[in-house]
Amino acid sequence: NNYVAIMAGGIGSRFWPVSRLNYPKQFIDLLNVGKTLIQSTYDRFAQYIPNENIYIVTSTQYKEIVESQLPQLKPENILCEPSRKNTAPCIAYISYKLNELNPNSNLICAPADHLILDDTSFRKVSLEALEFTAKNSALITLGMKPFSPKTGYGYIQHEQYAVNDNVYKVKTFTEKPDLELAKQFLISGDFLWNAGIFVWRTEYIIKAFEKYLPEIHEIFDGAKKQLTTSLEHEAIETIYPQCVNISIDYGILEKADNVYVIPSEFGWSDLGTWGSAYENLEKDNLENAVAGNNVMLFDSAKNIVHSHNDKLMLLQGLEDFIVVDTEDVLLVCKKEKEQHIKEYVAEVKRSK
Ligand code: GDD
Ligand code: MG
Repeated sequence: NNYVAIMAGGIGSRFWPVSRLNYPKQFIDLLNVGKTLIQSTYDRFAQYIPNENIYIVTSTQYKEIVESQLPQLKPENILCEPSRKNTAPCIAYISYKLNELNPNSNLICAPADHLILDDTSFRKVSLEALEFTAKNSALITLGMKPFSPKTGYGYIQHEQYAVNDNVYKVKTFTEKPDLELAKQFLISGDFLWNAGIFVWRTEYIIKAFEKYLPEIHEIFDGAKKQLTTSLEHEAIETIYPQCVNISIDYGILEKADNVYVIPSEFGWSDLGTWGSAYENLEKDNLENAVAGNNVMLFDSAKNIVHSHNDKLMLLQGLEDFIVVDTEDVLLVCKKEKEQHIKEYVAEVKRSK
């Protein structure tokens, strides 16, 4: 009864120019390990979830990329969304469909683009979660120990005592707090980051949609029978334009009263920016992380250098920079300005 849905519809705009709208970061070997992020994510689950129970939910636009990077998947396991509506509709799609196929479906929903260093711990934690949700009406999320007041994460506060081994009832869930609040959460020592990896039975996430996102529930509930037939594509084309654009965090996790968390440690990073990739890349003795086969560095330290072509790249006297060369774009940006890359990209789009 165990299933996985890998959510792979995001656009990863802070990794420009490597991550592009037509080829986002989940389809790139960002960490230079010989596999793209979605391939690593698939492999991690394929160790203990049967191939036919692994689904990808992505945008129609990326269907061919998924097919070519994961040829072992059956075509019907790649669910395509006609528009980007954030994670709530994405999770509704897979959940209502699976629930028709198997009303006992126990489902892990995971992002396609995160780094997990310790696969063994991850497997242990996710199996523990599946075991708990198999017996309880719980919505489980995995929690990470926070180390800075990042505002791009959900913050979770849980009860003092575990209800089962390592599973705690969640008291409060605050998605993307402002900096002031994030600082207070961090100082209090009482909060975890939401890793964005969820485990639940489809039956109970559907109950949560019914209660907290009734518009989405009505739309999917009315069409659920079609999701397992040849009418699936047509049904989805009608469903998506009617769906609100909302994340599962704002839509359900902040509101539901049956949310549980497993505090976890498995070398996690959501690879949100070049800097977080840098932290996880191998570095030379001057702390440069270099990917690409024709790069020479002189008197340069602490840079992240990505070359995606065979052109010789020679850098001298550079420190703390992001240098990314692709076929059509060269980016040279101070590491500390990485959060602004999104804005620069918007500017590029405006000026073209
Ligand atoms: N299929 C599909 N369709 N996937 C999507 C869509 C969509 O419309 N939107 C986002 N995704 C995928 C992304 O590719 C990513 O793998 C995952 O869903 C999460 O979306 P993000 O857009 O990256 O979410 P976030 O980073 O702002 O916040 C979430 O993750 C944080 C941890 O990294 C939240 O769950 C936070 O609470 C959490 O702390
Ligand atoms: Mg993210």
